[in-house]
Amino acid sequence: MNIILFGAPGAGKGTQAKELIKKYEIPQISTGDILRGAIANKTPLGLEAKKLMDQGQLVSDEIVNGLVEARLQEADCEKGFILDGFPRTVAQAEELDKIMKKIGKEIDKVIALEVSDDEIIERITGRRVSKVTGKIYHIKYNPPVDEKLEDLEQRADDNEETVKKRLAVYNEQTAPVLDFYKKQNKVYEVDGAQGLENITKDIIEILEK
Ligand code: AP5
Repeated sequence: MNIILFGAPGAGKGTQAKELIKKYEIPQISTGDILRGAIANKTPLGLEAKKLMDQGQLVSDEIVNGLVEARLQEADCEKGFILDGFPRTVAQAEELDKIMKKIGKEIDKVIALEVSDDEIIERITGRRVSKVTGKIYHIKYNPPVDEKLEDLEQRADDNEETVKKRLAVYNEQTAPVLDFYKKQNKVYEVDGAQGLENITKDIIEILEK
């Protein structure tokens, strides 16, 4: 099960990935999480990525392609994986095809979560992440039972101004990736505006078809 979770910033990729890894016991590979890890560890890559991420811009294709190529060859990807936030440009999608060929695998399905821009802004500005468990919450739609216990924080790029930039970058550079996979007949669209559980149900139905 080699799948891509595709969608605009805040479409719910991370939230759904967490449900799927529980069910299928395969890893989520989020380039955003890998980059935030490098920032937290203050590595040279992290310092370079931080400037771009804080501005809502993409990190270079070379950097993320290298990160993903190395990650896909780790033992836990043997049974399958969920790519979240990658590929984000047509050049990344082309490179991913080459990587998959090299390791003798293929992308099976691309799940595209569809959500309107207004909903995305509300979701992202209300998102909080637990410093304790890494769990993703929303102050209105999915609040934690005990806010203090979770020690919530807001991502540096989750303010309205940066979200608008991220959406513009998505429409310009990432949306064309969907056509790339439509040509390969791999795209399955899911209504991402539904409640969390219904979305998970729809995705599982597609994966088990
Ligand atoms: P990344 O971390 O990948 O961010 P993103 O794609 O912008 O996506 P998000 O993590 O913001 O949203 P999500 O779809 O996972 O939504 P979530 O489930 O959290 O990338 C960050 C940056 O890193 C990029 O801007 C770029 O600079 C860099 N980068 C990363 N990958 C790169 C690449 N390949 N190339 C170059 N640069 C790269 O949900 C959002 C909120 O909504 C949460 O609060 C959640 O609780 C809530 N929610 C979710 N589902 C629902 C629902 N159904 N109903 C109500 N609320 C919901």
